[in-house]
Amino acid sequence: MGLREFHLDLNNPEFVYDPYPLLADLRESIPVFYDPAWKKVFFTRYDHIAALLRDRRLGRSILHILSRDELGWPPPNPLTRDFDRFQSDHMLDNEPPKHTRLRGLMLKAFTPARVEGLRPKVQHIVDRLIDQVQDRGEMDLLKDFAEPIPVAVIGELLGVPEADRHLLRPWSARIVKLYELGYTDEQARTANQAVVEFSAYIKDLAADRRRRSRDDLISALVRVEEQGEMLTEDELVANCILLLNAGHEASVNGTTLGMLSLHHNPDQMAMAREATQSGRHDFFKTAVEELLRYDTPLPMFERWVLEDFDFNGTALRRGTEVGLLYASGNRDPRRFPGPDALDLTRKDNPHLSFGLGIHYCVGAPLARVELQTSFQTLLRRLPGIRIAREPVEYTGGFVIRGHKAMAVEFAAA
Ligand code: HEM
Repeated sequence: MGLREFHLDLNNPEFVYDPYPLLADLRESIPVFYDPAWKKVFFTRYDHIAALLRDRRLGRSILHILSRDELGWPPPNPLTRDFDRFQSDHMLDNEPPKHTRLRGLMLKAFTPARVEGLRPKVQHIVDRLIDQVQDRGEMDLLKDFAEPIPVAVIGELLGVPEADRHLLRPWSARIVKLYELGYTDEQARTANQAVVEFSAYIKDLAADRRRRSRDDLISALVRVEEQGEMLTEDELVANCILLLNAGHEASVNGTTLGMLSLHHNPDQMAMAREATQSGRHDFFKTAVEELLRYDTPLPMFERWVLEDFDFNGTALRRGTEVGLLYASGNRDPRRFPGPDALDLTRKDNPHLSFGLGIHYCVGAPLARVELQTSFQTLLRRLPGIRIAREPVEYTGGFVIRGHKAMAVEFAAA
């Protein structure tokens, strides 16, 4: 392939714990390399990643132009049959024109007004969680705070009744295991089963909303479907599941990674505390963008090369997979001066943490509301909040990089 070769051991615990030193070395010494073990060409520099994300000669899926036989792939894994069907119907794993139709219909229902309307609800959810721990002086930031928020918010957005919301996170946690590189048969089986259960649940909810419409996203999507705008029931279900998965994991990890970054940068933590005490809400807009840049919750996404072309001297062949290391682009000194410093006032911050191009995160406005409200309220209501024990343990994989638990302490009310 004429490219330098290097094996990036993505699941190595030391790399997952702190990927940035190795990513910095690669960015300077072999910014583009072929990994024979993962069979991917990896890109590490900001400009390369941004250009490739905007290039329509790459796509998130390839099966719309080449068959499995042509790609030399083995037959589909029977263990992931339902998962594969779900993938084929949601926007993230489709390319135009199907992607354009699905994303357009989703955006008709998932409007800026609906997201803004959720702001007071998000504040209420955050406040209620803090009420429960405020006099304890400690909590597990993951279980007691970060996890319940996106579950409650997306439950609210979609219209999942409160009594059922405990079902959502376990389903989504099982399903997203299949996005890691190198999963086990057991993980495949349980993820597939989660898709089956989750789909049945969303179908029932949609049937209920067909009988009596409400002010929620499922009702809005059912109306879109009923107006004959070509949203099949399978697509409706798949995209609701996608919202739940996409909306959970990254927001949870964004909260714990962000807290860890603040903890390791006491001057920035002090500045954020001062901003919240003096009611400077706008400070948290730039602060959250910087936290997302500094430690990227979803550090890598892939694309398929859809036609042969030459990219900056690298020959990319149709059917090749590329790995785009967003976390590395976010620390590229060519784009971000002083990239290894956390600077919560950084203004010029076009980070890659929500992606770029046609798959740019649909939930970014909602994620911003969640994270701004979370950090602002945590720092205002829990004086002196800090990580209680280090090292903090990571869940395992690099692709969805999160924590097992995060003990924090603060002055009890
Ligand atoms: C901190 C939180 C979040 C982060 C870091 C994040 C990150 C991302 C990224 C990087 C992508 C693009 C993937 C690619 O380039 O292949 C994406 C897509 C997407 N995200 Fe998010 N996300 C977050 C929260 C959310 C939330 C709250 C929702 C929904 C409620 C959501 C829904 C989606 C959807 C539906 C897509 C697919 C868009 C498409 O294919 O056109 N995300 N997200």
